[in-house]
This record gives sequence, C-alpha cells and structure tokens, in this order.
Amino acid sequence: MMRNPLREAGRVTSCVQLVRLGIAASLLLAAVAPAGAQTLLRTPYLMAGAPDSIVVRWRTTSPPTDSVVRYGSAPGSLTQTVTVAGSRTEHEVDISGLTPNTQYFYSVGFGTTILAGDDANHFFVTPPLRGTRQATRIWVIGDSGQCAVSSQGCTDANAVKDEYLAFAGSDIADLWVLLGDNAYTNGTDLQYTTGFFDVYPDVMRNTILYPTLGNHELGSGGSNSAAQSGPYYDSFSMPSGGGLGGGVASGTEAYYSFDWANIHFISIDSATQGANLAVGGPMYNWLETDLIANTQEWIIVYWHHPPYTKGSHDSDNPAETSLFEMRERFVPLIESYGVDLQLTGHSHSYERSVLINGHTGLSSTCALGECFIDGGDGNPSGNGAYVKATLGPGPNLGAVYSVVGSSSKNQGGLTQHAVMTSWINFEGSLLIDVNGSSLDAYFIDKNGVVDDHFRILKIGAFIPPGVPSLQIHGLIALCLILVAAGVLARSRFTSTS
Ligand SMILES: [Fe+2]
Repeated sequence: MMRNPLREAGRVTSCVQLVRLGIAASLLLAAVAPAGAQTLLRTPYLMAGAPDSIVVRWRTTSPPTDSVVRYGSAPGSLTQTVTVAGSRTEHEVDISGLTPNTQYFYSVGFGTTILAGDDANHFFVTPPLRGTRQATRIWVIGDSGQCAVSSQGCTDANAVKDEYLAFAGSDIADLWVLLGDNAYTNGTDLQYTTGFFDVYPDVMRNTILYPTLGNHELGSGGSNSAAQSGPYYDSFSMPSGGGLGGGVASGTEAYYSFDWANIHFISIDSATQGANLAVGGPMYNWLETDLIANTQEWIIVYWHHPPYTKGSHDSDNPAETSLFEMRERFVPLIESYGVDLQLTGHSHSYERSVLINGHTGLSSTCALGECFIDGGDGNPSGNGAYVKATLGPGPNLGAVYSVVGSSSKNQGGLTQHAVMTSWINFEGSLLIDVNGSSLDAYFIDKNGVVDDHFRILKIGAFIPPGVPSLQIHGLIALCLILVAAGVLARSRFTSTS
C-alpha cells in the first residue's frame, strides 16, 4: 500500500504537470473518435469517498451505453473492472472493496472502449481510516458558477483555480468543498456543465467533491430538496452516512456528514427555507444526533447562507431570513457540540471572523467584543494562533466563521462585520490544512497572493461531545489551578534549597 503518494514530491510533480494536460488529452480523444461514437460531455469526477469505496461519474453523448470503470495500482495495469449493465449517458459507478489511504489509477468508458483515463492524470486516493491523524488538505470554493453566464466569470474562476493549483504544487487537495451557487444564474443542467464541469476537469478527476446547496440551485433549473431532483441532485452523489465513511445517515442528499481522517464534515441545506430550517425539524434533529455521535477531533460545518456578513448580503437585514435563521437556530447547536470552523458563501467576498462563541444577534450586539473568545487575528505571524483547550469537540470553546463567496466574482459594498478580522472584496478560494491538532487556512486570491492566514491549535485532553460547557470550563479552571499550584510549589522549593 502506498502511503499517500500525493505527498511524494518527485512523482507528483509529473502528475501535476500531466493534470494540466488533461483537458487537451480528453479533447484529443474526442477529436479522434470515429463519427457517431460517444464522447465525453462531462469528464470524470469523484464523489462520496470513503476508506473502502468511491463513486466515479461522467456523462457521454448518445447513443447510451453501459458504464465501465477499470482501476488498478498503475496506468497500464488497471486489473479491476466494475461494469454497470444497461444503457445510459449519465454514468455513475460505485466502487467498493478498496484499501484505505491508497492511490488508484482508473479509466472510464463502455464495453472495451476507454473514453478517458488509464494514464497518469486519472487517479484518486481513498481516505485514511476515520480517526487517523493524517495530514489532510481541503480546497474550498463558493459562488463559483459565474463562468456559465460571463466570459469574465470564466476568466476569474480559472484564475482562482490556477492559483490554488500553483499554491498547492505537488500537494493537491484531498477533498474539495463547494459552498453553493455553483452554476449561475439558475442552476440549470446546461449551466452546471458550462459553469462547473467545463471549468474544473483538471481538479475533479483527482480530488473528491463535496457540495452544498445554494439559492441559485433552486432557480429555474429546478433543483428540489424535498423531491431530491433537478440538476444539483442529478449531478452529484452525496455520502449516505455510516460505514467506514462515518457520519449518521441523514436519509437525504440535501444534508449529510462524513469523516475524513480526524475531521468530521457536515453539509447543511440552508437554501431550502421554511420548515426545513425549523428547530426540531428533521434536519435540525439529524444534525444534533450526528453531532452527538461524532468522535473526531475536528468539526467543519458548511452551508450557503452566512450567519455573519456585510458583503453583497447583510446579516443584519431582517429581509435576509435565512441568514437570521441559521444564526439564531443552527449556530448555537453546532457551537454547543464543538464546531471549529464554519464555512459559507452567498456574499461575493471573503470574510473571516476572530474566534467567537454565542453571537446570535445583530452585529451591534458584539460590537464591543462580548462574543469574542480570542479577538486577535489568529495569524501565527500576527497575534498568534487561536488556542482551544481541548483535543476533541469541546463545546462552546470558540469557532471561526468564514464567507468564501468570491471564487468567480466579487461584488461591492463590503464593510467590516463586528466579528470579522479579515474582509476582502476580491476573487479567491480557501485552502485548509489539518494536521493532527492544528488547522491552518489560507485565502489565496486570483493573483496568487495569500491575503489571509489563520491557525487554530488544540491542546489538552479529548473532550467528548455533549459535556456541558460549564463543566468544561470548571475542568480547565481546575487544571490551571493545579498547574499554578505546581509552579508555586516548585518556586518555594527552589528558593529554600
Ligand atoms: Fe447565494
């Protein structure tokens, strides 16, 4: 078994170089295909990764065919085959029985025909077993779908992607989070093709994708969470929960959770309004059950509508119902079970908070920092990292909230929200590195400049979910008293000896 070969610099350098040639390779393949033969309308992409399974998807032109994925340890040695019989142009193949933390090369096609892959460009790496303290890299983009409606949007989306790839170098992300509004303006099937699948073929064939629903997915494209239908649901395969992939099964693709290494990820549907956002509703109750069951050290929660923003949307505007409801209803819940980082889009800017807890009101109610756990910038080169006195998901110890909604455009009007220490009206994306008890995040703009960097450190004992915060604070106080007493005792002993 290879040990995360993406981290092996020499080998990956050649892979990354070849990644950039991928589109050309696919286009060439299409160009030389005989007349009437199928070609790829959507190049291969990877979803629902688990230590022992993955979903490979692609779309072809007619006529419909069966679906065949071949995979193995090296190009030219794809010894395993999964065939889904029948005829279709929308292909979705579940592969199971995989080895955790292992690189596989693959191809997609039909019958004996290979449409893409069996080369150095097409590979995936399965996640490590849940709970493993393995370095994990996450790429986050929000409101990225502008390429569907403007050439400038394409230019900006590609620049954001290219600068992420340049920053990552040989260490490309293990997984990829979409924060919604992935296909402007209405999330139609065609807009998904031109605004998403045509933009990221060189990322999505290697990095496993995890989306969340934005309001533009609910446009005339017709995605519908209750019916689990429309372009968003037809295009994506979300983790079902349970098994080696972790998470409590939600019974819907609208919201879901999964584990990756020592991180618990949760996607929430903030776009479907009304009863969906009710306290005590199915999503709320599932979320609490899932948080209670979590045993991972880190919790990252993402949805589309930001609880705190002063960008192209304003979380103080009562007309922004979803922003209020997410802040008043869901923020207290995720904080009480120890969320560390919460990610959203919707405002077309980048905004990033200090370490906060318990802020459910208007921005003015935190104007003097009443909700601050640490009001510094969290930058190791600035005020220093944020420190949380737990290795596990300790409740109400503070979280960072970030809006990453400028991955294909920026929109004016941005001012500083009271909880934000970084607010930038410029296109970019967020790269997150989790390594053991530290989390680093970098906002990389479309010019390749890192405009923001923060770190969260966890120290102390593993505090399981559900332990009341007063009890936690009492334990921390007791520890500090014992440490202080020890220092004093040593000091007295030293002075008299
Ligand atoms: Fe939005």
